[in-house]
Amino acid sequence: MMASFEPRHIIVTGGCGFIGSNFVRWVVREQPDVHVTVLDKLTYAGNPQNIADMPEDRVELVVGDICDAALVDRLAAHADTIVHFAAESHNDNSIACPGPFVQTNVQGTFTLLEASRAHGLRFHHISTDEVYGDLALDDPARFTEERPYHPSSPYSSTKAASDMLVQAWVRTYGIFATISNCSNNYGPYQHPEKFIPRQVTGLLRGVRPRLYGDGLNVRDWIHVDDHSSAVWAVLTRGRIGETYLVGANGERSNIDLVRAILRVFGRDEDDFDWVRDRPGHDRRYAIDAGKLRRELGWEPRFTDFEEGLRQTIAWYRDHEPWWASAREDAEARYAEQRR
Ligand code: NAD
Ligand code: DAU
Repeated sequence: MMASFEPRHIIVTGGCGFIGSNFVRWVVREQPDVHVTVLDKLTYAGNPQNIADMPEDRVELVVGDICDAALVDRLAAHADTIVHFAAESHNDNSIACPGPFVQTNVQGTFTLLEASRAHGLRFHHISTDEVYGDLALDDPARFTEERPYHPSSPYSSTKAASDMLVQAWVRTYGIFATISNCSNNYGPYQHPEKFIPRQVTGLLRGVRPRLYGDGLNVRDWIHVDDHSSAVWAVLTRGRIGETYLVGANGERSNIDLVRAILRVFGRDEDDFDWVRDRPGHDRRYAIDAGKLRRELGWEPRFTDFEEGLRQTIAWYRDHEPWWASAREDAEARYAEQRR
């Protein structure tokens, strides 16, 4: 294990999105000596409200594009670390319109890597389990760090490309980088285009949940705060050049999850609609986080998924102004994409 690294000034890219903003909140709460500069383009998925209540002397927001090399270089000159969350993150959008995914996820990561190289920054890259493709429902295997990459969607292929850029920059230029590949996150501030917030905000609007295909696809759910603590563990104690998978044994089929949500709303558990499947829809993801647990002693705190789900639903109930217009826009995109 490398000697413990102590970041002082972190550039958090995508810090106004779902996971990035939860990470900023986590750092402010748990790491009192760290200053954060959020670099975020504020796409449809970024909302400055997500970090508006953070203390001004700890967190500053720079609105800009990670592909803007001059801006990234200027910010890098005053920091010691980049934690890179910014991405186009939604599979359905990537199928309808892949261009921005290549630009932000590949070109943007390249730009950040070059700045890290020029300024000798510690770089942590946030990635996804989707780079490994999918598993069959009856396969006893789970993803490990040794599994070959086999991405299915435009989104996951651009994330795979960005991971490989990081690996090459470590080997060729000796930059100080690590990668974590996480499973499906849930929690507050998730955009209402994504599965759980889409169904929850729909039910709050009197709209029935929508299940793609046969509903048997499995996702491996983790609370976003457990993702944040894992990123911190890898950033401060992970070995340079290594990949760590992040997951919390949360495998669940989409149909079981929709029924769990319906139960919280006191609705009949068959009160949902089947809709056309997503093209290339990955069947199952499952993470073996043994390396992260053994090497870095990381453990998830949110082990009761039903309780985490209830808290998340309560958050959406209490934050209708936060999601109302984002939901309308997302549903307009879905109507266009799934004509
Ligand atoms: P999100 O879509 O909620 O947020 C993305 C953020 O990045 C937004 O604030 C957006 O404005 C910003 N952004 C987009 N393009 C940008 C650009 N060119 N320059 C600067 N900022 C830009 O995404 P998320 O769900 O929070 O995912 C964050 C990261 O975590 C992504 O890298 C994603 O691949 C990865 N990830 C997500 C999950 C998940 O379940 N959501 C799981 C594993 C990994
Ligand atoms: O595994 C990590 C990945 O998880 C991240 O890399 C992605 O950024 C993140 O978006 C997520 O990808 P998914 O495609 O798994 O998430 P999504 O919320 O879009 O869908 C979850 C599952 O639910 C998937 O099997 C598709 C299905 N689905 C989705 C929606 C929006 C439905 O059945 N109905 C829906 O309305």
